[in-house]
Amino acid sequence: MINRQFTLAAYAEGVPTERNFTLVEAPLADPGPGQLLVQAHYFSMDPFPRLRISGDASVAPQLPLGSVMIGRGVGQVVASQHPDFPVGCHVAGELGWQEYALSDGNGLRLVDPALAPLPAYLGLLGPSGLAAYFATLRQGQPKAGETVVVSAAAGSVGSTACQIAAIAGARVVGIAGGANQLAFLQSLGATPVDYSDAKNLPQALGAASPQGIDVFVDMVGGSVHDAVMEHLNVGARIVLVGTIANYNLGPGEVDTGPRHLYRWILKRVRLSGFLVGDYAAEWPAALAELASWLRDGRLRYRETIFDGFESAPQAFASLFGGDNVGKMLVKLLRET
Ligand SMILES: NC(=O)c1ccc[n+]([C@@H]2O[C@H](COP(=O)([O-])OP(=O)(O)OC[C@H]3O[C@@H](n4cnc5c(N)ncnc54)[C@H](OP(=O)(O)O)[C@@H]3O)[C@@H](O)[C@H]2O)c1
Repeated sequence: MINRQFTLAAYAEGVPTERNFTLVEAPLADPGPGQLLVQAHYFSMDPFPRLRISGDASVAPQLPLGSVMIGRGVGQVVASQHPDFPVGCHVAGELGWQEYALSDGNGLRLVDPALAPLPAYLGLLGPSGLAAYFATLRQGQPKAGETVVVSAAAGSVGSTACQIAAIAGARVVGIAGGANQLAFLQSLGATPVDYSDAKNLPQALGAASPQGIDVFVDMVGGSVHDAVMEHLNVGARIVLVGTIANYNLGPGEVDTGPRHLYRWILKRVRLSGFLVGDYAAEWPAALAELASWLRDGRLRYRETIFDGFESAPQAFASLFGGDNVGKMLVKLLRET
């Protein structure tokens, strides 16, 4: 049998394109002792792998050229010599951009399609939901009546963070761009603010946050981050989750740097860097709470789904612009 894979053809400059990847066909190996073979049903499109394919090796460890492109996915075990992952079970985790992944089980978790649709385990009931949960509640610590601002708010982490902040009793302002994204935020009960009108962003944020900003869950950085700084309240918490505005810049280029030190002093701000992996020990409890909020209707999620294995490069590029909402996915197969 043949395994189709996307390998890294060239490091990306700017937004990645199809030219950065090569579609190859490789023979499919049988799993050896302690291994399993997973047939991918969905690929998860996440911004972080962009940093691993940057020409600038100082940003993150570079993926070697010719490697299968990294990426998480969800699928079904079709052959196994691993006691924890029998044939027929479903798993989520790092699979790479390939139709079949041979794995030793490291980094994979069992998921149950009877409890939630498979793609949910890549979004709300996966790393996106967990990032939103811990960034918002643990590091942002919103109190009832406070104002929480979320950037990239219509995306996978952002849209969940908006809803979790609302569950905590906060007023929520979501920064996003484009009619779809703004309408989605409105449907979630957040006050939408459009970042496309960069010049007016500080003013629009002021109008949307008349009592100032207490918590900022920032996925974007750059000029969006700067605009929020103008409205911080004393004791504000800034949670640095991502800087997607910078991911496609070249070596040495930065959208903006830290230049609000005086404001941070004046407002006695607490600024914290966030990595979802730091909370790994608490993931099971958080996933149970996210699932219960999903069941009782307090959390909702949306997906943007590209159809077919070949669409992976295009779906990846769409993370960096395109007025898409929710979790970005590539669908390879119908669920079984
Ligand atoms: N620290 C952690 O542990 C952790 C974990 C998960 C995710 N993250 C970070 O969280 C962020 C969101 O990840 P995600 O998976 O949920 O992706 P996502 O939000 O679903 O997709 C990316 C979003 O970013 C927006 N965006 C792209 N370029 C932008 C720019 N220059 N200015 C403003 N918005 C821009 C896109 O909207 P447009 O269509 O408007 O461009 C899109 O809504 C990323 O920065 C990611 O690296 C961090």
